[in-house]
Amino acid sequence: MKALTWHGKGDIRCEAVSDPRIEDGRDAIIKVTSCAICGSDLHIYDGVIPAMEHGDVLGHETMGEVVEVGRDNKKLKVGDRVVVPFTISCGECFFCQRGFYSGCERSNPNREKATKLWGNSPAGLFGYSHLLGGYAGGQAEYLRVPYADVGPIKVPDGMTDEQVLFLSDIFPTGYMAADLCNLTGGETVAVWGCGPVGQFAIRSAFLLGAERVIAIDTVPERLALARQAGAVTLDFKEEDIYDRIMELTKGRGADACIDAVGSEADATASLDSIIDRVKVATFMGTDRPHVLRQAIHCCRNFGTVSIVGVYGGLLDKIPMGSAINRGLTFRMAQTPVQKYLPMLLERVQKGDIDPSFVITHTARLEDGPDLYKTFRDKKDGCIKVVLKP
Ligand SMILES: NC(=O)c1ccc[n+]([C@@H]2O[C@H](COP(=O)([O-])OP(=O)(O)OC[C@H]3O[C@@H](n4cnc5c(N)ncnc54)[C@H](O)[C@@H]3O)[C@@H](O)[C@H]2O)c1
Ligand SMILES: [Zn+2]
Ligand SMILES: [Zn+2]
Repeated sequence: MKALTWHGKGDIRCEAVSDPRIEDGRDAIIKVTSCAICGSDLHIYDGVIPAMEHGDVLGHETMGEVVEVGRDNKKLKVGDRVVVPFTISCGECFFCQRGFYSGCERSNPNREKATKLWGNSPAGLFGYSHLLGGYAGGQAEYLRVPYADVGPIKVPDGMTDEQVLFLSDIFPTGYMAADLCNLTGGETVAVWGCGPVGQFAIRSAFLLGAERVIAIDTVPERLALARQAGAVTLDFKEEDIYDRIMELTKGRGADACIDAVGSEADATASLDSIIDRVKVATFMGTDRPHVLRQAIHCCRNFGTVSIVGVYGGLLDKIPMGSAINRGLTFRMAQTPVQKYLPMLLERVQKGDIDPSFVITHTARLEDGPDLYKTFRDKKDGCIKVVLKP
């Protein structure tokens, strides 16, 4: 089959790889009808995710039709149309039982590696390095889905791929970002990053009762899409974000701050970011947490900082003094997608939100390598890419 594979920093290819096979009775194989490129894939593209190997198949936002089912899988049958969460979860362990699917303690066969780095291992993920299981991803014609009686959700008749594909990741992630803010109604929520995840966080914050959303980015079409959702927008290259947020909140700060940017923040002119870049380049640091630092400073006393942008390792100069003295709450996760799926599917069905609003590019799998670049460089108005194998 054809798949998008990784061959080093900036080198993604569409090439022939072997077809996936059922390896366990609970598996299923799906024929991919749509898959997407995520901001998390860009960290791989940019070479900042460790434990990638030549030829690894990428992709973790995938849906399609079931073409083969393992003998122990009682949930799926051939012909079912399903969306596959990016997190691989057994459904039975301590964490899965409590709804912490992205903390599944069984689905990462390489958990020792992860434990060395992080103290313990999260769930395995599709197409996201050998640290997180070494599973082949879904930017491919076919995908093997482990524990396929837990993760995939069946798509009701009449719904298009475009309406449901993002239930695999970015809609639950944006929703979780807002959910972690514990909104009760009337709050001001500041969202850093108006990429696909930020867009869903903005809309979810309104769905959950925020009165005002302040959205921060610099890419004009992304800021425009945030304004369409009702957000006040700030351009971090034109305005002082801290000053502007204080101005908008009577000097208090936002009730909740969402970091939907993560490790590769753009902050060329700021001193902290220059130091981060030097440290990363000389292997003395792993991440560039400029946005997280700013989000902490911009959060009101006893407010919440919700982090969904991905970080990999040890973060420097996080203003913990500010956080403890002002009583901030930090919340964060790789999204336990399965926890949110049924409820969000219902919201899409009811018409609360149509997730397809974020798509700007639809193309063939063969166009994937070029579109990684277009998406990363934010060229051609690109916000979200959907590929049709
Ligand atoms: N926690 C999870 O489960 C989960 C799931 C999906 C994605 N993610 C992460 O969420 C993040 C966003 O993903 P995406 O698909 O929207 O990616 P993206 O790269 O398209 O979006 C990031 C946006 O941040 C903006 N940005 C950069 N520097 C900024 C700054 N200093 N201030 C404000 N905005 C800034 C960029 O212009 C861009 O629009 C990534 O780190 C991704 O890995 C996490
Ligand atoms: Zn993702
Ligand atoms: Zn589990």
